Amino acid sequence: MSKGKKTQRLDKILGHLGYGSRSDIKKMVKQGQVSLNGLVLKDSGMQCNPYEDDIAVNGERIEYREFVYMMLNKPQGVISATEDHRERTVLDLIPVELRVFSPFPVGRLDKDTEGFLLLTNDGQLAHDLLSPRKHVPKTYEAHVLGEVGAREIAMFREGVALDDGYVTLPAELEVLEPVHGEDGALSRIRLTISEGKFHQVKRMFMAVGSKVVYLKRISMGPLILDDSLALGSFRELTDAEVELLKTYRK
Ligand code: URA
Repeated sequence: MSKGKKTQRLDKILGHLGYGSRSDIKKMVKQGQVSLNGLVLKDSGMQCNPYEDDIAVNGERIEYREFVYMMLNKPQGVISATEDHRERTVLDLIPVELRVFSPFPVGRLDKDTEGFLLLTNDGQLAHDLLSPRKHVPKTYEAHVLGEVGAREIAMFREGVALDDGYVTLPAELEVLEPVHGEDGALSRIRLTISEGKFHQVKRMFMAVGSKVVYLKRISMGPLILDDSLALGSFRELTDAEVELLKTYRK
């Protein structure tokens, strides 16, 4: 985490932590609710170091951080967006204490896809992880109609042409086991791709004459979905996990 030595205006620091607008914070300061290193403040534009100074609001010391990083086990039925007029979004699953940092999903999962979704407000890291030049691997588990086997493994390894003519990069398909569901024979598979075209996994199976009926992402880059996370729940990443993600930086 970048704990810079730089000072910032107090109203900017408190604004970042969700204490309100500049004028809200000015009011709080005027009312004597904010202290700096034990002394009640008068000026909401005062320069302070949020990592080193002791800033307190109503006697409670603030804990400053610039970035937040979370892994969410996305359930079906919510969309990978920050706001929407009709649909529930992944941010509706995050408590307000973390929503004030304005996190956003890194990439998208379809509304009916479950599993690993990274949320952060670190725009640079998100940009690097999504860059087509980085080839960040993403692994999915899926149920697909019919039996898939050696033919599909070879085709995915070679690359398949999607409906728009795009030929996919080599991908690794593993067939886990046949499942017999309501729809007849299904195959349970694991697929690792290193790019992120729109609906890519579903379109890859369409290209080989099959259909995905259930899809879950289980990993992204070096991080694997924590299996103690129930659908719809999240946890913050550890510092070590954030450092692992940063290996994808330029
Ligand atoms: N591929 C898909 O088809 N859908 C997803 O949500 C993710 C990858």
